[in-house]
Amino acid sequence: MLPPGGRISGVRLEKLLGSWRRGIPRQCSADLVAAMKLLVADGRLPVGTRLPSERELTEVLPVSRTTITAAFDQLRAEGVVQSRRGAGSWISGPVGAGGGITVADDTLIDLSRAAPAALPSVRHAMDVAVAQMPEHLASHGYDERGLPLLRQRIADRYAARGLPTSPDQIVVTSGAQHAWALVLRLFVGPGDRVLVEQPSYPNALEAVRASFGIPVPVPMLSDGWDVDGFEAALRQAGPRLAYLIPDFQNPTGLRMSSESREALAAVLRKARTPLVVDETLVELSLDGSPDPLPMAAFGGDSVVTLGSASKSHWGGLRIGWIRASSEVVHRLLSTRAGIDLGTPVFEQLVMAALLESPESVLGQRREGARAQRDVAVAALREHCPQWSFDVPVGGLGIWCALDGPVSTRVAVMAQNHGVRLVPGPRFAVHGGCEQMLRVPYTQSPEVLREAIGRLGVVAASVAGTGFPADADLSLPVA
Ligand SMILES: Cc1ncc(COP(=O)(O)O)c(C=O)c1O
Repeated sequence: MLPPGGRISGVRLEKLLGSWRRGIPRQCSADLVAAMKLLVADGRLPVGTRLPSERELTEVLPVSRTTITAAFDQLRAEGVVQSRRGAGSWISGPVGAGGGITVADDTLIDLSRAAPAALPSVRHAMDVAVAQMPEHLASHGYDERGLPLLRQRIADRYAARGLPTSPDQIVVTSGAQHAWALVLRLFVGPGDRVLVEQPSYPNALEAVRASFGIPVPVPMLSDGWDVDGFEAALRQAGPRLAYLIPDFQNPTGLRMSSESREALAAVLRKARTPLVVDETLVELSLDGSPDPLPMAAFGGDSVVTLGSASKSHWGGLRIGWIRASSEVVHRLLSTRAGIDLGTPVFEQLVMAALLESPESVLGQRREGARAQRDVAVAALREHCPQWSFDVPVGGLGIWCALDGPVSTRVAVMAQNHGVRLVPGPRFAVHGGCEQMLRVPYTQSPEVLREAIGRLGVVAASVAGTGFPADADLSLPVA
């Protein structure tokens, strides 16, 4: 069958591959295979993507044609790439959770998602929801706004954070990602620019591209948001929308100060650019410092806020929401039917039960995350002393600065040592962030210690100070 996907140019593939070479000549084609599989595994080379010819790649990659041919042969043998005379080569098969690597799946530790397991509270909330289902089973169950009880409790949560909100301002969605896709559909058309932080959450960037928008990155400063940089970008790019994660930003973990919120809201207002604020991680403050007011308290009706159950409670609920002005809610509801017809009732009831008295549940979540963060911080200091980072005050990941532009190489090697990570360039709009790596701390303390111990071996071998890079590690790891 012919490939259905688009074609990637040699230049673009070279950019995506990043710094994949370990500098060991006899390992070159194996490294190229591993780097390609990483791109397939994390979605940057979707199945169906047509690849540049080997000749074109020889012109852009700093390796010989023989190396490229050997790498393509290997990828074909593993079913990742398929080729046909006249049609070229394309990505033909997905790479499994392990990235198609040799480590047995049960030893692979997944640090590619900063998402926690459910607490027992989710199970209790399910019992409550089961008891409430009969009355809902008597109705048709379609509701594009969301259950009134849940919308009321979400609105109460905003009020408790200092932002009075009516249930009519809330639309329940199937997660924050779905919420963002609905908002993009309303605001952004082909070629429209969307201002984003750099680095930012990869799936949010992907959603902008999927709506044919153009993400325009504004670099973060090491300690926060560059308001002047945003003002300049607003002037130069004339964006249709801005998208920010002001609370425990993914991946930096930074939280925007009240002063920056006020200043950013002012420059956005002046430019008449609506702002979408993603508050997915907002409940995960780990240092007990007072919460700033939500961004919408500064920006008024021009701010659309996205919320999620995924990080505070559980991603498997697939519950999120939008808080917006009545006018935006009205427009959202009138276009939603083109995408879906509402969010499952049972999961909404579970979320409503979780929000009945949220503080104790959130307290447990924060306590667990704090302990996991501390384990990850100690393990990184012990095993990866050549990496540096600020201890995050909230959120679920540590944004590490590596000892060189080696993030892709570290991620490729980490796969071979049984740890799955997302390399820094994934968080950047046009590549870059090659010196940065996100290490989530959502696994259990034991698993985190094991994973970061393995990363220590990778870090040392990439730095050339320890274990040989091509050492054959046996991984008898639980
Ligand atoms: C900033 C941010 N937004 C959205 C999401 C996705 O949230 P949901 O699971 O509610 O779709 C995530 C998940 O990692 C995230 O970090």
